[in-house]
Amino acid sequence: VGELETTNVLDIDDLSPTEVETVLDRAAALKAGEDDVQFPQATLAMLFEKPSTRTRVSFETGMTQLGGHAIFLGPDDVHLGHGEPVKDTARALSGYVDAIMARLFDHADLEELAEYATVPVVNGLTDDAHPCQTLADLLTIRETFGDFDVQATWVGDGNNVAQSFVLGCALAGVDLTVATPEGYGIDDAVLSQAAELGGTPETTTDPESAVADADVVYTDVWVSMGQESQREEKLAAFDDFQLNDGLLADTDAKVMHCLPAHRGEEITDGVLESERSLVWQQAENRLHAQNGLLAELLS
Ligand code: CP
Ligand code: NVA
Repeated sequence: VGELETTNVLDIDDLSPTEVETVLDRAAALKAGEDDVQFPQATLAMLFEKPSTRTRVSFETGMTQLGGHAIFLGPDDVHLGHGEPVKDTARALSGYVDAIMARLFDHADLEELAEYATVPVVNGLTDDAHPCQTLADLLTIRETFGDFDVQATWVGDGNNVAQSFVLGCALAGVDLTVATPEGYGIDDAVLSQAAELGGTPETTTDPESAVADADVVYTDVWVSMGQESQREEKLAAFDDFQLNDGLLADTDAKVMHCLPAHRGEEITDGVLESERSLVWQQAENRLHAQNGLLAELLS
């Protein structure tokens, strides 16, 4: 029997600190082959308004490993949002499948989907949040350092991945500093929510001081999917925020990136491919973390 109170994971703080631990423990057990739970015929609908490598393949593979099945529904496959309102898609899909995972632009659309669906809804990334990434990130941090007594630093854009990471660190008790250019910080509402969860993320516009004491430094693309028109403006603003050998010269910190990476922009090829890099472990952990979450939600 699953131990989660919530049925929807629209952001990581839909889970309590204990529930995050429950999901991560389940993920670790599944990863180690110590849990062989099966959900025969369980079906996951996967709605995608944006492209994806990791999210699509890890969820689809995960459902196969759990004995079920996943249906990929890309932007040209369903009526979502253009041929019919989101709330209609939500109710129709709920009559067929056991859970819905959705990657949408507008977070409000995901909220509408969850409001009208009668099966669990999981966020596979919106413009505001990426909680499944955060679960994989926390699993990676715990595997690498043994616990969450870790100093993490985010360098770059205060985007969807960053915002869920801020909340995830607050839930797990990871100390966090966030370095972003002026005007590209974490939303105030997310910082307030992190504080309510007992987190004390420090914010700065100085990447050099932010990485000085870090055990792990995390970055993501400067131009997220859907922001292509802001490209020139953002590249100029983020000039000093690249993870490169210079910025990391005085630290042994590990490096995280949710991928896809834009080498030469937010991170150099050298840093991404270096001994510091946790990115492939992070990418693999998407599968295990989500299997842990699915196992809890489908139980
Ligand atoms: N990190 C992540 O969500 O990757 P995809 O866009 O490939 O799914
Ligand atoms: N911030 C990136 C993450 C992709 C997984 C984007 O939204 O495009």
